Amino acid sequence: MWCKVVPAGTISSNLEFRSYSEHRPRSWHAEHLSIHYLTHEILKISIHTQQHSLIMPPSYTISNALPSDASAISSLFALSWQSPFSRLQFGNVEPRDLAKAMKPRIAQQIAEKRMLFMVAREEKSGNVVSVAQWTVPPPPSKGEKLESKDKGKLEETGQEKKERKEREAFDEEIYLNSLPASCNTALIALFTMRVRVLRERIVQGAPHFLLENLATHPGHRGQGLAARLIRHVLDMADQRSVVVYLETGEENKARELYGRLGFEEKGREEIELKNFVSREERERMDVGDVHTVVAYVRVPCRTT
Ligand SMILES: CC(C)(COP(=O)(O)OP(=O)(O)OC[C@H]1O[C@@H](n2cnc3c(N)ncnc32)[C@H](O)[C@@H]1OP(=O)(O)O)[C@@H](O)C(=O)NCCC(=O)NCCS
Repeated sequence: MWCKVVPAGTISSNLEFRSYSEHRPRSWHAEHLSIHYLTHEILKISIHTQQHSLIMPPSYTISNALPSDASAISSLFALSWQSPFSRLQFGNVEPRDLAKAMKPRIAQQIAEKRMLFMVAREEKSGNVVSVAQWTVPPPPSKGEKLESKDKGKLEETGQEKKERKEREAFDEEIYLNSLPASCNTALIALFTMRVRVLRERIVQGAPHFLLENLATHPGHRGQGLAARLIRHVLDMADQRSVVVYLETGEENKARELYGRLGFEEKGREEIELKNFVSREERERMDVGDVHTVVAYVRVPCRTT
């Protein structure tokens, strides 16, 4: 690890570290550090731990989630849904209460084969600090295995499509019924329906990995954890030659991250808010009349 030398006058609340192993910037808050001595425009920084040894940035391991992670994952999602549009959907609810309401559904989804939860765990504490939830495409059919050049390009059959739609409608109903009373259920239902329409327009029945949710604990952001979780699935998608799909709000800074990971914008859907949220509420939350959802696709890289 090396420590970036900061010229005098550029002290900010964040100081940057890099690890050779991950080549990712690491932001550490100044309270972890005490600035000791200043000379010739160079800051010497000493880093204190209880044992007065060097604090290393935390290490993380990436793995599939365990059933026992349902509570931690629900808490991460609830904590991360703080954007104005999320707050319009979920209302004035404590993250703790939202997490509690979500936990049974997350526990059930962890057990489902069509879902994949990848988590980053802080090695020292074992805590789950970042999570990516995916819907994975059905396993390759016989034809896919035989014809490797056409891998993953098979479209779903009419019957598969019907079953998928029924399952989605059922999931949606369970989801809406599990929400706390504070939620704007009509807005959530509209949002869910419109993103589904957008997705169908873009993927057109092709098998794909779908990013359902992504969250990193605020105290562990900016260290490349979300990127690592996503890359893991990009490798899987490359192996099967299938696309990876996701949606996000137009205002979400995560779009930069998706661009860096090779995703390209493929479409947009505008959701009119005025029939679902009062003008006062929209002004109070500082949102416009429309919420725009942006769809991203990452095409598979060739594998040998
Ligand atoms: C999006 C999110 C999961 C990224 O997690 P992360 O582990 O910090 O991600 P990484 O460290 O791999 O990448 C960080 C990049 O994400 C982007 N980013 C996303 N949200 C950001 C935010 N709120 N503030 C700053 N950068 C953000 C930036 O491009 C950033 O790059 P930088 O560190 O070079 O500025 C995390 O910010 C989060 O939980 N946000 C709230 C929930 C959310 O918006 N989820 C995505 C829904 S589509």
